[in-house]
Formats: sequence, structure tokens, C-alpha cells
Amino acid sequence: LKVLSVVGARPQFIKAFPVSDALRRDHDEVLVHTGQHYDESMSGVFFDELDIPEPDYNLGVGSGGHAAQTAEMMTRLDAVVADEAPDVVLVYGDTNSTLAAALVAAKRDPALAHVEAGLRSHNWEMPEEVNRVLTDHCSDLLFAPSESAAETLAAEGIRDGVSVTGDVQYDAVLRVREAARERSTILDGLDLRDGEYVLATVHRAANTDDRGRLEGIVEGLASSELPVVFPVHPRTEGALEASGLWSRLADAENVVLVEPVGYLDFVRLLDGAERVATDSGGVQKEAFYLDTRCLTLRDETEWTETVDAGWNTLVGADATAIRAALADDDPLPEKPSLYGDGSAAERIVAALSEYEHA
Ligand code: UD1
Ligand code: UDP
Repeated sequence: LKVLSVVGARPQFIKAFPVSDALRRDHDEVLVHTGQHYDESMSGVFFDELDIPEPDYNLGVGSGGHAAQTAEMMTRLDAVVADEAPDVVLVYGDTNSTLAAALVAAKRDPALAHVEAGLRSHNWEMPEEVNRVLTDHCSDLLFAPSESAAETLAAEGIRDGVSVTGDVQYDAVLRVREAARERSTILDGLDLRDGEYVLATVHRAANTDDRGRLEGIVEGLASSELPVVFPVHPRTEGALEASGLWSRLADAENVVLVEPVGYLDFVRLLDGAERVATDSGGVQKEAFYLDTRCLTLRDETEWTETVDAGWNTLVGADATAIRAALADDDPLPEKPSLYGDGSAAERIVAALSEYEHA
């Protein structure tokens, strides 16, 4: 099978890392990077440290408004799909890169395969919700990380082509956890000790583009008793600077602002954290895999199983709620097994092989 995989944003490099590896054993892969993320710390570092093959194409699209960015990706990708004539276009998650590739594939010959199908926040204001719903409805093969994601698809009338594979990010975490413990020097570098700091990440538009919410998060984090290490996404850096909140964090005694870090360092930070406060999709799951308590800085989540299991708490963006959640010491319940067994990549490739022979 000739599979054209499309990635573009940080979490997609990480999701593609186990899948590409498994895919290349049995099939031909053409890897396309849309260029949605382009800073070394948001893109290059992952290709280097995870040994992801160099993309065959980098579309160099860069940043822009939703329409301009998505349209530019579609135009440039359409030419590549026409030239390469793949059997399958493989997309990940819910970014503008995902949607652009889905629409291109839907209007050309290749089948469309979607990793992380069936996730819903039920918040239509969220750009990612639009991207994931439209992508699912264009897809021929849908790889759901959980039974409940498959049930969501069924409720929307999508039954054909769905397989429950588990979560590829679980595969990714399992692959690097030990290496991160052995090789990452980030804790020493930041003078942090296991179990004695909070990790924070923020980048959702709903938080960065709303001054009230951003301020609530800043004040909540600044009130932490434990040191807070905060690798700052470029979008958030821009928003903090524009709203005058950067200095509030930079001056806070307990907050350590750092550039976005590579995957090994991030997994090490998350593994060692006493808890994590995040609005990231991927980090909520990775926290669960690494036994770290998670506070989600949003009002809803797609990863509802982690909340139901008692390992993830939705705290929103209110300073008082964040302060209270940072101090909450209720013991964590026993951990159920969610999102598969770490062989999602193998299951995805098996489903692709089955499709080839059907
Ligand atoms: C995107 C995805 C989001 C995903 C996130 C992962 C969409 C709509 N959003 O959000 O779902 O969770 O990636 O991190 O696709 N920037 C840089 N350097 C970079 C990349 C971005 O400076 O390498 C800055 C630019 O100012 C840019 C802004 O960050 O305008 C936002 O980047 P963009 O890719 O549009 O969205 P993200 O917020 O990163
Ligand atoms: N991540 C990383 N370095 C960082 C922050 C996050 O390597 O400084 C990784 C993290 O381990 C996870 C992914 O990036 O695998 C999550 O990406 P992000 O939060 O940007 O996007 P989302 O998952 O919300 O789409």
C-alpha cells in the first residue's frame, strides 16, 4: 500500500512516530509536513530525537488565519497527492493540517484514514471540534482510541471502516519513558526534584485569546506552593506579552518559564511532576499513562474517560478554582486501563493491510 501521511503540528510528529515505524515495515510511506509548526522547538527537535524520517515534502505553509492557512495547505497538498497518487492519505488528530488533508483526499481518489477518530468535546466554538467532526465524516478508515469513541461515531451514523485501536500516544510514551528517565537531564538543569514541582502547559485559543481566562490561569499558577515549570507555547508567549501578563508570571517567585522542550524532556518532566495543569489534549492522556494527576484548564474535554476514572479534573480558567485544585490532596483512585495496550500503531497497520487485501 502506498500511504501518504500528513503531519504539521507538534502532537502529530509524536503520534506519527510509532505509526510511521510500523507502517514502513509493510508498506510504502510518503511523509508530508505541512509546515504548520516550524520553530526548531515545535518541529525539528522531534524529528531529530525520535528518528522520524525526514519529510519527503515540506509544504512550508506556516502561520495564518484559519481560512488562509487551511486553503494554502490544501492547494499545496493537492499537487503532491496528484503527483504521488497514494492509495491512502493518513491524518492525525484535529488540527488545520488534518482538515486540509482530509478535504484534499475526499475530493481525490485516495482513501482517507483518520487516527484519533471519534473524539468530541461537543464545543463547536473550538476550531479542533470542527476539524475532527469534518475529518471523521470524510474518512474511509477510522482508528478510534477507545470503545466510546467508536460508539460516538456509530451515533453519528459512521460504522463502516471503524476499528478500535487504542491510543498511539500510549505507544509513544511507552517507547520513550525509560530513555527519558535515563537520558534527560532537564530536572537537574532546572534544579527540580521528582514529586516536588508542578508542570504547566497552555495553548488553546479559548485560553490564550481571552484575557480574562488567561489572567485566571496566570494568577492560579502563580499561587502554587510548589514550583511551576511552564514550557511556553509560542502562541501563549505572544498572548502573554500582548496582554501584559508575561511579567506577572516571569516575576512570580515560584514560576519557571522555559521554551517548549523536546519530547524526552517533556515526558521526563511529566513523569516526575507532582501534578500537571494543562489545556493540551495529548498531555491529559500522557499524564494518565505516567501516573501523574492532571488538572485540565478547560470547561470540557474529549478525553472523558480520564475524568471518569478520577485522574483528571476539569478546573476551567478561574484563579480560585485552580488554586484549590492545586492544593487538592485526595488520594487518586485505582487506575483502570484506558485507550489500549500500547500496540495501537500495530493495529492501525493491520487494519491498513486488511484494507489493501479487501
Ligand atoms: C495548533 C492546533 C491545535 C493543536 C496545537 C498543538 C489548529 C487550529 N490548532 O494550535 O489544535 O493543539 O497546534 O500545539 O490547527 N507559532 C510560532 N511558531 C511555530 C508555530 C506557531 O511562533 O512553530 C505561533 C504563531 O504566532 C502562530 C501561533 O503560534 O500564529 C499559532 O499557531 P497555529 O499552528 O495556528 O496554532 P496552535 O495554537 O499552535
Ligand atoms: N510536548 C512536548 N514539549 C512541550 C510540550 C508538549 O514535547 O514543551 C508534547 C507532549 O508530550 C504531547 C504533545 O507535545 O505529546 C502535545 O502537544 P500540544 O499540547 O501542543 O497539542 P495537543 O495535544 O493539545 O493537540
